[in-house]
Amino acid sequence: MDNNHQTGSAGWRSPSNIALVKYWGKYGKQLPQNPSISFTLSQAFTETIVRYESLGYEQDKPLVDFYFEGKPNEAFKMRIEDFLKTNINEFSKLKELHLSIESRNSFPHSSGIASSASSMSALALCLCSIENQMTETVSNQDEFLKRASHLSRLASGSACRSVYPKVAAWGSSSSIPNSDNLFAVSLTNIHPVFDDFHDDILIVSKEEKSVSSSIGHSLMNGNIYAESRYRQAEDHTQQIYSALQNGDLRSLGKIIEDEALTLHALMMCSDPSFILMKPNTLEMISRIRRFRKNSELPVYFTLDAGPNIHLLYPDSCKNDIEGFIERDLLSLCEDGNIIKDQVGSGPIEINSFSL
Ligand code: PMV
Repeated sequence: MDNNHQTGSAGWRSPSNIALVKYWGKYGKQLPQNPSISFTLSQAFTETIVRYESLGYEQDKPLVDFYFEGKPNEAFKMRIEDFLKTNINEFSKLKELHLSIESRNSFPHSSGIASSASSMSALALCLCSIENQMTETVSNQDEFLKRASHLSRLASGSACRSVYPKVAAWGSSSSIPNSDNLFAVSLTNIHPVFDDFHDDILIVSKEEKSVSSSIGHSLMNGNIYAESRYRQAEDHTQQIYSALQNGDLRSLGKIIEDEALTLHALMMCSDPSFILMKPNTLEMISRIRRFRKNSELPVYFTLDAGPNIHLLYPDSCKNDIEGFIERDLLSLCEDGNIIKDQVGSGPIEINSFSL
């Protein structure tokens, strides 16, 4: 191969994830104030293919063309250029590259689902593959995913958990061996009831949220409850990890609901305060709790930084929950929108788009 003029491509499909213990508050270069744990999803994913060409000379950042769902997208291109420029020292070969990036989501862009976890992890995985191709390195899978998780984190914090199958944890915690603030780790020894656990995303609103996650994180710096929140997250991490190992759905359910409500309570007592839940979010929460009480089924909700409800339940309850959603929740979703997802097996390498 002519080292001055390398060309090639890399492609990855990478999923979104839903946090059970929430990351909310950061410091330094995208480092979390507390540990977090998430389920990796399967149906909500991004496919990204990056073609590269070595220009034979260096610049301060790579040249980037960016196409989202087949069309050039300036806003995404600027975000990616900014990420690459800020982190250029991570991967020095980038300086001499022209990258043509094409990305597609399995879910509509303005569907109320944040795409940064899937899109940034897909991009990071592609960059790691390109790095290996250009340096003719064959890294083992653990090293490769650790590096991809590290780069994903720099692009969008919670994206670092998406590179692993099923369950991942990010942030150092005394209860998780090898846990680290710099990258996520895969959690193994998880009870099989979670292998096909459901996450139905009930879209209460498709609107772009009024306060971005990065502003939300920064408002934790002045939040008077911050320190006790970080301690609570550490305790929840330990309790959830043990519930995940034992298949203890009731403990898991209690903690994930506490986590969702704490996240939104922190927003409500930031300065300035903000509210991302909508009236239908609260109505759904009360219907879910009433249904759980009457049916005694292990069905629980969580929320990310937005108004949409994630309904989590084991596969054994599928038929009952489908009926409950149809009867009691569907009418509260914007345009009847639901994305049915499940715990998934992590990213896969691709040569062409399936979307
Ligand atoms: O990764 P960010 O900066 O988009 O923040 C994600 C924050 C939450 O979704 C609310 C929690 C989490 O851990 O995913």
